[in-house]
Amino acid sequence: MVFLGVVFIGVILVLCVCTALLRWNEVKYRKKGLPPGTMGWPVFGETTEFLKQGPSFMKNQRARYGSLFRSHILGCPTVVSMDPELNRYILMNEGKGLLPGYPQSMLTILGECNIASVHGPLHKDMRGAMLSLISPPIIRDQLLPKIDQFMRSHLSNWNDKIINIQEKTKEMALLSSLKQIGIESNTISEFFIPEFYKLVLGTLSLPIDLPGTNYRRAIQARKKILIILKEIIEERRASKSNQNDMLDSLLRIDESSKLNLTDQQIIDLIITLLYSGYETVSTTSMMVVKYLHDHPRVLEELRNEHLEVRKRKAPEDPIDWNDYRSMSFTRAVILETMRIATIVNGVLRKTTQDMEMKGFVIPKGWKIYVYTREINYDPFLYPEPLTFNPWRWQDKRLESQQYFLMFGGGSRQCPGKELGIVEITTFIHYFVTRYRWEEVGGDTLLKFPRVEAPNGLHLRVWNY
Ligand code: HEM
Repeated sequence: MVFLGVVFIGVILVLCVCTALLRWNEVKYRKKGLPPGTMGWPVFGETTEFLKQGPSFMKNQRARYGSLFRSHILGCPTVVSMDPELNRYILMNEGKGLLPGYPQSMLTILGECNIASVHGPLHKDMRGAMLSLISPPIIRDQLLPKIDQFMRSHLSNWNDKIINIQEKTKEMALLSSLKQIGIESNTISEFFIPEFYKLVLGTLSLPIDLPGTNYRRAIQARKKILIILKEIIEERRASKSNQNDMLDSLLRIDESSKLNLTDQQIIDLIITLLYSGYETVSTTSMMVVKYLHDHPRVLEELRNEHLEVRKRKAPEDPIDWNDYRSMSFTRAVILETMRIATIVNGVLRKTTQDMEMKGFVIPKGWKIYVYTREINYDPFLYPEPLTFNPWRWQDKRLESQQYFLMFGGGSRQCPGKELGIVEITTFIHYFVTRYRWEEVGGDTLLKFPRVEAPNGLHLRVWNY
């Protein structure tokens, strides 16, 4: 009896403390004009609910508070916008003080000249430099031949093997970018790759700089990567030969234009290129393979498109820009994969002053999570939104409609969109023309907060 009494008092006490803490966090952030919502626990906010429930958390909050609500996620007071009009407005209006709002750990690890860390004229210059490296004519003349050559060799000797397609697509995305940049020597990339993986892990970690943390490992990895890149740049400057790769173009930007990029900026730009195209390209490629496996009719039409291209060529002929442009069904499959798997859930911004939006005031320094996921399932834009239907993209207007935000929008719209699609297309080309495959089975796929197969996605592969 006494024991039950003690338990009862204990429970009441815990409830009181919890209520007080929740209330304290609400009061702490109470400001006139804020959008409705809840702030959760001190420090942790609603991060656990957000990560655990994912899209359902967002939908529940929207049902309760409307499409603009406040929360406290990933360590920051945040306003979540699920309003398509407002999302476009935010992306289009960086000039009004709506800057990228990525976590400090990510910015520190990727470097202070990383494109997400800079704004105004420096952003314009860095972006201009980036665009000059990956524009469609450069892809056509310089990058596609390199990508083709790389994919041919990366996708060889898979016959009669069990492969982890997640691992293979990750290697593919990184090694292909390294080749395009001009970092090809096996010894360098052997040393570089493990350091790069540590760097990526760190950008998604808590910024705790203690021995053994992913953050500390990433900072150390960055230091090693800087040493390698500095050496490569010095060697390149000393050599007179023209390599026709991104590094050459970057070093020539200095000479040929008013842009005076420092070595630090060049290095951060290379890291940006590697980082931005890494997970997006690899995850989309893995998911394309997954959906092709699950939808045999789609696979058949896609494979026919690629076999038609091969019929016009000798086996060792590479695919060229015209072949790529003719692969419209493949482009549709890639876009439908990005939509239904939602490779990008949204982007982060932060306010640099108090800002009024939809009649509410977002305080200075708050994050805005421009959550674009839901638009991918809008039945007006995408009838039967849960059906994997690449044919819907054959209406070209769908890709240019104003709420197509899978590559962001406004002055930060992805400059690597075409390059990314070229890489995925070339990968698919060699995969479907060379191999048949089936899933080994039993692998888990997570869709939130990022799309991943925690233990890999294993396929049994045979020659086609
Ligand atoms: C194919 C898959 C890809 C997807 C889904 C994707 C998606 C995105 C999105 C949503 C943004 C906007 C970020 C924001 O507004 O904060 C973005 C920006 C960016 N992407 Fe991509 N991306 C892809 C591939 C690539 C590739 C292959 C590269 C580089 C070679 C690249 C380089 C960049 C850069 C540098 C930015 C920042 C632009 C700026 O801040 O001005 N992306 N990407």
